[in-house]
Amino acid sequence: MAGFFGFIREKASNYSFGGLIMDQLESLVQWLFGGLPTFIGILFRAMFYKLIFRRLRGFAWIQPRVTFVCVHKLRIGKRFGVNSGTYINAIGGITIGDFVLLGSNVTVSSGQHDIEGAEPPVFARATIPKPIVIEDDVWIGAGAVIMPGITIAKGTVIGANSVVTKSTEPYSVVVGAPAKKVRSRIAAE
Ligand SMILES: CC(C)(COP(=O)(O)OP(=O)(O)OC[C@H]1O[C@@H](n2cnc3c(N)ncnc32)[C@H](O)[C@@H]1OP(=O)(O)O)[C@@H](O)C(=O)NCCC(=O)NCCS
Repeated sequence: MAGFFGFIREKASNYSFGGLIMDQLESLVQWLFGGLPTFIGILFRAMFYKLIFRRLRGFAWIQPRVTFVCVHKLRIGKRFGVNSGTYINAIGGITIGDFVLLGSNVTVSSGQHDIEGAEPPVFARATIPKPIVIEDDVWIGAGAVIMPGITIAKGTVIGANSVVTKSTEPYSVVVGAPAKKVRSRIAAE
């Protein structure tokens, strides 16, 4: 039990009181609707997530079993689609534009731990917020990881399983770990 209360105390030190309440509310909403199959599930998630996200414009196509954390810092534009198994943690703030598509099992996490020095253990260090921006018309392939603090420029396509460690150029196609530009989506003039 002492371990449990210690965990709560540590978690609370990372959040405001309002943030902690939202964290619990978002877990509850996701437990109720996160795994609901069929079009009804898609509809309910779009409706209820609209109430708890910082901003969700238009209709979002959210497949079952997508995890959202810190939704009070998550802003999403119109026409958002995301496939199952994806994990989006907005602890440092995430802003997503219009017409953005995320494949399955993508990780977008906007927090980092300070890793310098041996003490204290990384486990015990506070999360450093590192905002992520995903601009309009971006497609992120299955299994990709978007590192904290990154901006994915308008029109970028990210290859499956890529690890994106640097911000991208508009309309670039980037692949690999670490992700590198392989071409532009816009034909050279
Ligand atoms: C990024 C992507 C769109 C590029 O497609 P493309 O423009 O047709 O590119 P190509 O297949 O011609 O590949 C170009 C080069 O990048 C490499 N490449 C492509 N995708 C890659 C990936 N995910 N990881 C590593 N390298 C990759 C290719 O091997 C090729 O290298 P080469 O020139 O040395 O032969 C595609 O490969 C991809 O990853 N799509 C995501 C699919 C997916 O996740 N679908 C489900 C989610 S909705």
